[in-house]
Amino acid sequence: MSLGEDQLIQKARDAQQHAYAPYSRFLVGAALLAKDGRIFLGCNVENSTLGATLCAERTAVANAVCHGVRHFSKIVIVSNSDDPVMPCGICRSVLFEFAPDLEIIAVSSSGQIEKMKLGDLYPKGFRLNSEK
Ligand code: THU
Repeated sequence: MSLGEDQLIQKARDAQQHAYAPYSRFLVGAALLAKDGRIFLGCNVENSTLGATLCAERTAVANAVCHGVRHFSKIVIVSNSDDPVMPCGICRSVLFEFAPDLEIIAVSSSGQIEKMKLGDLYPKGFRLNSEK
């Protein structure tokens, strides 16, 4: 494992500390690596309506976009699950919007790692045609 990956995992663990998940107790942190080398963090933010819950991956994307950053190469997702957790369907689409070639690194509570390409998780992802 490269040093960069270790650092990203540690950053995602830092973000996981801030997860607001009183309903599921499923604590998730994400570290999104931008192509310019900057790292944007996210954690899940649950809501009493449940449906308004935000996943860690989406809060990381929103955090980056709010800082004017839209190009990403990797995301690390950590959780307190026994198994590495891949992004949910909505998050796959949100990640695909900005980074169809994204590398996903999911890490379990014990440090077990699973890697996938977003294109394999979300093939032929949906995009509206736009001039960005
Ligand atoms: N969750 C994430 O933050 N990311 C994932 O990839 C899977 C699910 C959150 C949403 C909710 O707060 C909790 O985990 C249970 O679904």
